Amino acid sequence: MDFDLSALLARERGQGTSQLAEHVNPRFATVLRTIGFDREYVRAEGAHLWDAKGNRYLDFLAGYAVCNLGRNHPTVTRALQDALALELPSMVQFEVPTLATVLARELKARVGRDLDHVFFTNSGTEGIEAAIKFAKCATGRPGLLYARKAFHGLSSGSVSLNGCESFRTGFAPFLPGCRMVEFNDLASLEAELALGDVAAFIIEPIQGKGVNLHAPGYLAEASRLCRKHGALLVCDEVQTGVGRTGTFLAIDQEQGVEPDMVVMSKALSGGQVPVGAVLVRGNVWKATFSSLDRAIVHSSTFHMGTLAMVAGLSVLHAYDACDAAGNARRMGAQLMDGLRAMQPRFEMLKAVRGRGLMIGVEFGQPKSLALRASWAATHAMDRNLFAQGAIVPLMEDHRIICQVAGHNLDVVKLIPPLVIDESDVQWFLGAFESVLESMHRPLATAGLLARLGRNTLRSMMGSSELSSARERS
Ligand SMILES: Cc1ncc(COP(=O)(O)O)c(C=O)c1O
Repeated sequence: MDFDLSALLARERGQGTSQLAEHVNPRFATVLRTIGFDREYVRAEGAHLWDAKGNRYLDFLAGYAVCNLGRNHPTVTRALQDALALELPSMVQFEVPTLATVLARELKARVGRDLDHVFFTNSGTEGIEAAIKFAKCATGRPGLLYARKAFHGLSSGSVSLNGCESFRTGFAPFLPGCRMVEFNDLASLEAELALGDVAAFIIEPIQGKGVNLHAPGYLAEASRLCRKHGALLVCDEVQTGVGRTGTFLAIDQEQGVEPDMVVMSKALSGGQVPVGAVLVRGNVWKATFSSLDRAIVHSSTFHMGTLAMVAGLSVLHAYDACDAAGNARRMGAQLMDGLRAMQPRFEMLKAVRGRGLMIGVEFGQPKSLALRASWAATHAMDRNLFAQGAIVPLMEDHRIICQVAGHNLDVVKLIPPLVIDESDVQWFLGAFESVLESMHRPLATAGLLARLGRNTLRSMMGSSELSSARERS
C-alpha cells in the first residue's frame, strides 16, 4: 500500500501531548501544557496558523525567526515541488553542484564585503562550528571571544561561546580558549585581544537573548580592534539575517564593519528545508582548504542538498519580490510606536527596543506600592515567571504565539514573519494592551498562578473535559 500522509495525520492527530511525552521529550510536553501552548496546528499561511477547530492564531515567533517570508510562501512551495517533479539528483557529492554555485553567487551579491567563498551548512550552529575551525586554521591561534548573553547555538563548540549560564550548566568542559567579554564594552574586548592569542571574536549584531543592541559605533570599533590585533571578526547573522532588522543583514545598517566571516541560516530555509551558509574571506578559505588533499577537509554529508539549495534560492527571489525588509521596517516602526505609546499608562512597561521586526519589550520594577508586592512575589517564586505573565494570556486569550527573550529576563520578544500587515499589528497591540491592563492589577500574580495551576491540573488529569472547558471559556 502507498504511504498515505493524510491518513496518517487523521489517525494520529488530536492526542494532546501524550505521544510527545512518551516518545520524544516529556519535560517539554509538561512545559507546553503548563503555559497553555499544547496546541496542534493543522494549517499555516503567512503569519497565521489554524487549529483543527478553525481557530486562527497570529505567529509572532516565526519558528525562532525561520519563517521571515511567512509560512508556506507560494514561491518556495512551488520551487520545492518543481525540484521534486524534475527528479533532480541530490548529494551526488563528487559532481558540479549547479544550484549551490548559484546560491553562493546570489548570497555574495547581497552580502558583499569581499567575502569570496561560501560554505553551506544545515543549521546555524553548524555554521558557527565551521567558522570556529576556519578561524583557528587561518590564524594558528586558539582563542575565541564571545559576548555576555551571546547565543550562537548549542552544539559543543557553539555552546562554548554561549554567554548564558543556563545553557552551559552541565556541559563542561568547554572548548579550550573560549573567553567572554562584556557586552558592548570595547575596553573588555581590547584587553582580551591584546593578549595576542585570539583567533576570532564571534558576535551577533543584535543579541537574540534579550534583544540587546550595541551602542552606535561599537561594531565598527570592534571590527577595527580585531584587525589591529590580528583576530578575525565573525558576524553571526543567523537570526538577524534575511531582512529581519530591515536590511538584508543587520550590519548593513552599520558603517565600517568588516567581517572576515558572516554566518547565516534560519530564514534562508523558507521555513521548509534547513540550510545555512558561511561567507568567508578568500585568505581564510585558502588557509583552511590549503591543498588538494585538504579540498574537503571541512564538510558534511548533507551540506549542499538540492532541496536546501532550492529553498535558499527561492527565498532570495521571494525576498526581493515582496520587499520583505521594507515591510519589516514599516511594521516594526508601527509596533514599536504603538508599544511606546502605552508606556505612560503602564508603569511596568520599562523599555521597547529593537530594529525592524526584532523587538524586545522589557518589564521593569513598578514604583507604586500596590504593584510592588506582585512584582516581588512573582520574582521571588521564579525569575522566569514575570514575562510568562504576558506570554500565557497572549496565547490563551488572544491566540498569539510569542516567547520570552531568554532565561531570567523580564523581556518578551517579538519576531513575527516579515510579511505581517497592519491588521496583524493591530491584533497584537490590542491584545498586548489588554494583557498589560491585567498585569497592572494588584492581584495579577494570583491570576497568573491560577492559570498555571489550572493548566497543570488539566495536564495531570489528562482530561479532555477541562481542555474543552478552556476552549469554551
Ligand atoms: C544568533 C544565532 N546563532 C546561532 C543559532 C543556532 O542556530 P541553529 O538553531 O540553527 O543551530 C541561533 C539560533 O537561535 C541564533 O539565534
